[in-house]
Amino acid sequence: MSRSAPVVTIDGPSGAGKGTIARLLAQQLGYHLLDSGAIYRILALAAHESSVGPDEITDLTELARNLEVEFRLNESGCETQVLLSDQLITDRIRTEIVGNLASQIAVIPEVRLALLDLQHGFRKPPGLVADGRDMGTVVFADAELKIFLTATPLERAKRRYKQLMVKGIGVSLPALVREIEQRDQRDADRKLAPLRPASDAITVDSTGMTVDQVLMRLMSLVREALSESGVVR
Ligand code: C5P
Repeated sequence: MSRSAPVVTIDGPSGAGKGTIARLLAQQLGYHLLDSGAIYRILALAAHESSVGPDEITDLTELARNLEVEFRLNESGCETQVLLSDQLITDRIRTEIVGNLASQIAVIPEVRLALLDLQHGFRKPPGLVADGRDMGTVVFADAELKIFLTATPLERAKRRYKQLMVKGIGVSLPALVREIEQRDQRDADRKLAPLRPASDAITVDSTGMTVDQVLMRLMSLVREALSESGVVR
């Protein structure tokens, strides 16, 4: 693995705000950004389009090895555009079907292994912010700074509730809390790359914090970690 550039990893459960915080942090630092969940979703979409099923491990692994993926910021800098073989697929990877397929594919060891090189390739100067579930524990185990970003199930359910309300989708808050608790349990219990903080990760609980407050906290942790590891910016 290239040790050419510093890496900040942000792992944690769904709904903790990793995506938003990782994007803002990468912008502030002028670093590259790796949304590893999107990689699993892109592979799922590619498989779906090539009629490769979640149990066809050889074909999936082949697809994983040859994925041509690009992430780039749109003009306003507020959204990350996703490209697969030069085709814009930003919205298509966010559907329920693709998300479900991504989580089935993500439990296959051969697939996870095949995606390692692709993920390592994002580590380029001046640096990388990588978000996901196993960035600090597996993919960038030698990262300069590892954050485990979390929030209580109730807080995460409230954030999700607000997003759904804006879209005009009515749901019950207690049902959302239950769903989130069940998913946390599943993610933590899975054998391969289970969701857990790396032993040297710093846990940041964003419950009751605004996005700006979380960002400020992370920026101060980055400054500390990079000056300690001798990376001068
Ligand atoms: O974070 P997101 O919902 O986009 O992730 C899509 C799927 O990929 C999830 O099911 C998650 O379990 C899986 N994933 C993973 N390892 C990562 C990132 C995501 O297994 N580093």
